[in-house]
Amino acid sequence: MTISCDVLVIGAGAAGLMCAMTAGQRGRQVRVVERANKPGKKILMSGGGRCNFTNTGTTPANFISANPHFCKSALARYRPADFIDLVDRHGIAWHEKELGQLFCDDSSKQIVRMLMDECADAGVHVDTGCDVHGVVREGEGFVVETARGRVAAASLVVASGGLSIPSLGGSGLGYALAKQFGHDVLPTRAGLVPLVLTGSHAERLEGLSGVALEVEATARGPSFRNAMLVTHRGLSGPAILQASSYWEPGQALSIDLLPGTDALDWLRAQRAARPASELRTVLAERMPKRFAQRLCEHWLGDRPLRQFDEPMLARAAAALSAWPVVASGTEGYRTAEVTLGGVDTGGLSSTTMMSRLVPGLFFVGEVVDVTGWLGGYNFQWAWASGRAAGQVA
Ligand code: FDA
Repeated sequence: MTISCDVLVIGAGAAGLMCAMTAGQRGRQVRVVERANKPGKKILMSGGGRCNFTNTGTTPANFISANPHFCKSALARYRPADFIDLVDRHGIAWHEKELGQLFCDDSSKQIVRMLMDECADAGVHVDTGCDVHGVVREGEGFVVETARGRVAAASLVVASGGLSIPSLGGSGLGYALAKQFGHDVLPTRAGLVPLVLTGSHAERLEGLSGVALEVEATARGPSFRNAMLVTHRGLSGPAILQASSYWEPGQALSIDLLPGTDALDWLRAQRAARPASELRTVLAERMPKRFAQRLCEHWLGDRPLRQFDEPMLARAAAALSAWPVVASGTEGYRTAEVTLGGVDTGGLSSTTMMSRLVPGLFFVGEVVDVTGWLGGYNFQWAWASGRAAGQVA
């Protein structure tokens, strides 16, 4: 038996549910198929269980894409304030943590419940535990083979997300469907992901796991001033996760361990003020003691400041403002928050997210080659792109 509907959405994540409720509110008959046993698994996990659901400072500059202009239209038409209105209408209390990042006061479950309530009110049917096996074009529409049988739909919205954290539903289905229908898929890689250190870099930091300090990290793109965390395998923390999305294997990562300070001026001033003090003692006032100690042992030199001549001081300053640590890789999709790359925006309309090649076919959310920074931007893209498709699908 084949079930028919106007719009079939693949994936009950952030983008798929927003798209489904929007299309349903227009009176379209909408079904969502989700292979996981419940909807919105990533939303539930996000923000440490409190969902960093948007960022009030969202601009197109907070996104990485081969076409940085593509995200502009959808983001301009569904803004953080629109999502905040929705959250407020559902009586969900929230707070700003830092840098425009908004979190639920209570639980990310409230965001999933809100989206599911909106879907229910709009008559959307959500089928969980229902994997999609394949899609064929039939006439002007689509027939989708699912674990529960065939579904025919006039419009098909692919909201199946990226490859990150496979246990939360990440799958390559969206990329395969894009290719099947003639779209280019740009190479994918893990983003917002901890970096791995090996060899002497790892040995030098052994035993420091859990130590955190404020740094400014840069890899090709913008600089991110925030916390860096030493892990068992390498480096993490918001500054490193942000830089990881711009980092490519073999490329240098620059980490300023004294952000906002001219390291050479500062070292000179310390040497003049207290020449008998060890460098490690002075540095321990700016960073965790154990990290300062290790830094001096392996990178900067471990002696009283008076024993640093100008060239030695300049070398120490250079190492502090661009710590020469080389990552060997990332932890990969297993722990990545997002997938970079994906369905090439060149084949999609930026106003509707519809395929330029196959009318009625849409791609929304993370499966598209638009990836946000850490801090609520990825959900804002999911809401905005889902909304854009839902208004026309
Ligand atoms: P998403 O991955 O959410 O949904 C895709 C859905 O499709 C999944 O439910 C999947 O099961 C389903 N699916 C896949 N293949 C299928 C198939 N074959 N058949 C049927 N269904 C299929 N962002 C942010 O802005 N703020 C935050 O706080 C966080 N925190 C965070 C924490 C963690 C641990 C992770 C992994 C990620 C984040 N993110 C985040 C990123 C954010 O979760 C992500 O960008 C969005 O969930 C993307 O939404 P989508 O709807 O595009 O994909």
